[in-house]
Amino acid sequence: MKLQSQLNLAFTALMLVILGVTGYVIYSMILGMLIDNERTELQQKGELLIQVLNEQGQGQGSIEDFSNFLREQDLQLFLYDRAQDQVLMSTMPEQYVRGFSANNYFADEREELWEAGNNKFVTSRILIYPDRTTLELVLLTPLTDLQTVQQDFFRRMVIVFIIGTMAAVLLSYLLTNKLVTPLTKLKKQLKKIEKRKFDDIERIKATGEIKEVEQGLYDMATELERYMKSQQAFFQNASHELKTPLMTIQGYAEGIRDGVFNEKDKEKGLEMMVTEVSRLKTIINEMILLAKLDSEQAEYKDEQIRATELIDQVLDRALPLVSEKDITLNHSVDNESTFMADQEKLLRALLNITVNAIRHAHSRVNVTVEEKTIIIEDDGEGIAKELIPHIFHRFVKGKTGETGLGLAIARAIVEQSGGKIMVRDSELGGAKFVIAFPE
Ligand SMILES: Nc1ncnc2c1ncn2[C@@H]1O[C@H](COP(=O)(O)OP(=O)(O)OP(=O)(O)O)[C@@H](O)[C@H]1O
Ligand SMILES: [Mg+2]
Repeated sequence: MKLQSQLNLAFTALMLVILGVTGYVIYSMILGMLIDNERTELQQKGELLIQVLNEQGQGQGSIEDFSNFLREQDLQLFLYDRAQDQVLMSTMPEQYVRGFSANNYFADEREELWEAGNNKFVTSRILIYPDRTTLELVLLTPLTDLQTVQQDFFRRMVIVFIIGTMAAVLLSYLLTNKLVTPLTKLKKQLKKIEKRKFDDIERIKATGEIKEVEQGLYDMATELERYMKSQQAFFQNASHELKTPLMTIQGYAEGIRDGVFNEKDKEKGLEMMVTEVSRLKTIINEMILLAKLDSEQAEYKDEQIRATELIDQVLDRALPLVSEKDITLNHSVDNESTFMADQEKLLRALLNITVNAIRHAHSRVNVTVEEKTIIIEDDGEGIAKELIPHIFHRFVKGKTGETGLGLAIARAIVEQSGGKIMVRDSELGGAKFVIAFPE
């Protein structure tokens, strides 16, 4: 069932329960209230009658006169003599008098709802001249009169409730519609993501939690699009990187097979094939390493690494390249610095960056360690502006680059250890790589 229907149904059911209970309570209370009210009114009527009687002086006269006066009133009443336990006069049919007497209502003062046959009456008794006689006036109203009022009230109440429920359901529909519309729109956007139509995604106006979901969805789509593009670029670059050496190898191999090379060229061809095969091996090894670093399986044995020890290892390994290129490699290391990382892997990351720096430097490379930060910079030509945003992506390389995997590997390692890697312009004139570990 649709969310809107569910909400409306729940709301309508709630309304019906509330109105039902309210209706039942009111309906059952209303008769009691009407009876009380009627009794008070009868009491007032009776008192008024007696007052009128007194004013006209008829009360002083005989019972006969009194009865005549009462008979003229359009009321249902009895005149009852308590002392003789006798009904002196009545405006009601004889059968009622008999019925009431049989039930002993006249003698029992507490009984307020009198019954005769199938008829019930609300009663009120007023003593006439309480100090002089024992005459009592009993006024009655049939319960059916009150029940008619009750039914009438109930009918109106039902009509009001029906109109109220309809208005509430309409309101509920409008409100839920306002709530559900952005969700329906979100669903459409999800479909677009599913079909990878990232450019068609529209922003949706919403508030509160729905807005948060919308923002989350939008961020997810952006990230997914970025990821898919990078995957695509990765495969294109990877196949290109693998194809070039393979084509060289194929060319030389076919040449040698077909005997088109002289002895010297054949020798050179074989040499080239060995170089290209080892290059292929390096690329494939690096790709495997990267895949491992990215996946959960990559085993990181985090341990406390002393900065001095780590940098010594880097310098030892970089030394041959430094002397080959005839540059100066300076280092300044904070003796107290330590890092939490996998030593083998962090060494590899630092070597990748240092070898890059040495390769691109004109005359100087500086390695600095301060607290939790490692800085490697050089005085080379620096990194081309357009490369900077993608420099840590796979197979991204400059004009003089090799495979373009070194920095991607370095970033994967640093991030796995909870650190961050950034590239800046160095004051020396070249590139500056900053690796920062958390405190
Ligand atoms: N210190 C630097 N100075 C100038 N350019 C640099 C520096 N370090 C890296 N680069 C540029 O960044 C590119 C990517 O570097 P990365 O180390 O990822 O790949 P690579 O050095 O080309 O190949 P390899 O995978 O063998 O390391 C390089 O090709 C180079 O153009
Ligand atoms: Mg490199």
